[in-house]
Amino acid sequence: VYEVADPALAAEGAERIAWAEHAMPVLRRVRALFAAERPLAGLRVGACLHVTAETANLAVTLVAGGAEVHLCASNPLSTRDEVAAALAVEHGVAVHAVHGADATAYRRHIGAVADAGPHLVLDNGCDLAVALHTGRPELAEQVLAGCEDTPTGVLRLRAMAAAGALAFGVVALDHTPTRRIVDHRHGTGQSTVDGILRATNILLAGRCVVVAGFGPVGHGIAERARAMGATVVVTEVDPVRALDAVLDGYRVLPMRDAAALGDVIVTATGNRDVVAAEHLDLLRDGVVLANAGHFDVEIDVRALRAAAQEIRRVRPAAEEIRLPDGRRVVLLAEGRIVNLGAAEGNPPAVMDMAFAEQALTTAWLARHHAELAPGVHAVPGNIGAEVARLELAALGVALDSLTGAQRRYLSAWESPTWEGGG
Ligand SMILES: NC(=O)c1ccc[n+]([C@@H]2O[C@H](COP(=O)([O-])OP(=O)(O)OC[C@H]3O[C@@H](n4cnc5c(N)ncnc54)[C@H](O)[C@@H]3O)[C@@H](O)[C@H]2O)c1
Repeated sequence: VYEVADPALAAEGAERIAWAEHAMPVLRRVRALFAAERPLAGLRVGACLHVTAETANLAVTLVAGGAEVHLCASNPLSTRDEVAAALAVEHGVAVHAVHGADATAYRRHIGAVADAGPHLVLDNGCDLAVALHTGRPELAEQVLAGCEDTPTGVLRLRAMAAAGALAFGVVALDHTPTRRIVDHRHGTGQSTVDGILRATNILLAGRCVVVAGFGPVGHGIAERARAMGATVVVTEVDPVRALDAVLDGYRVLPMRDAAALGDVIVTATGNRDVVAAEHLDLLRDGVVLANAGHFDVEIDVRALRAAAQEIRRVRPAAEEIRLPDGRRVVLLAEGRIVNLGAAEGNPPAVMDMAFAEQALTTAWLARHHAELAPGVHAVPGNIGAEVARLELAALGVALDSLTGAQRRYLSAWESPTWEGGG
């Protein structure tokens, strides 16, 4: 049973899924492993994810591992109808997803997956877990474990756990070491700069780029902007992160000083009002403002618009805001995340590693769910290393391994560290 827009789109969807598969070598290797070992045999997996070609490759991998997969959309706007059709018709996935579904249909789709009585829950925003706990408590009790993809979902799960309402253990995939390095630093670092360039076509070399926030995202943006010839200034509130930026050779300044220097100002803090009303008087004529943080509150767009004398759209993802004194401010993607608003978000290679981690975590949960108390848990230690190993193999990179003597040396505590003898 499935509910998709048009099953006749399956052939087109199969093409898309195959295209994405080429860019997903790590997930392909996990799939081969799953086909041999069948770690999910006999288990129903309920997944509420973006129904895209990349996710389809995750679903097909779970099927290869022996799972019966039930899939609905975590956001009806990202659903690809042809992909949904191919998964339903060619891969036997019980898909309930239609692009642009209204709120009623969206809830019905999630309800259908919840009603299947999943043993394992894969969530992106926690909607499936909430549907189980609120509408079907007896089915929530039967869930063995789950995993959650987004910071928002993790917040909701922690709130459920704190209220004693969470019936099963959930692994949080949003902030693993692999995600921080691959997705936040390299993926978002690249795609944010990509978004700024696509939106404006400016030359970065010789310009001053201000990066607000030196977490993995800010770090990635800063190093890419510098590599393209920009002078980079960082703003921070955390002393350790600020020190990291200084030792990396960046100038660190408070925003009130940095705002007057930037030709481009990019926010990546996860905080609000980082570029605010009080900075408007300081901005240079023609400054480009972009945001890479999750929500559209990092640049106070309302204050900016309120101060405007004139607002014109000058390019598809760029508005020029003219201030009363004649200075122009160029706002990208309305202050929403610029790598999605003006570019294509994360490249498939990034999704490859994220989904490989998710597939391996799902297999781990199938075996070890009994060890997880209800609550939110970190990804088990060796899965990140396994994903990194598979990616390195796909890139053709070999690494050293410890000798027996080295392993003993690293774990010995009885003998002195200095052996003498020169
Ligand atoms: N665009 C994307 O595709 C994408 C991908 C991953 C993460 N994100 C988002 O990007 C943001 C940053 O992610 P991260 O992983 O680097 O987070 P992080 O929390 O590790 O880093 C944010 C940094 O900003 C600093 N900060 C907070 N308030 C500040 C302020 N007022 N001025 C200056 N610095 C301030 C913090 O001290 C911290 O060091 C988050 O909102 C995250 O959700 C976006």
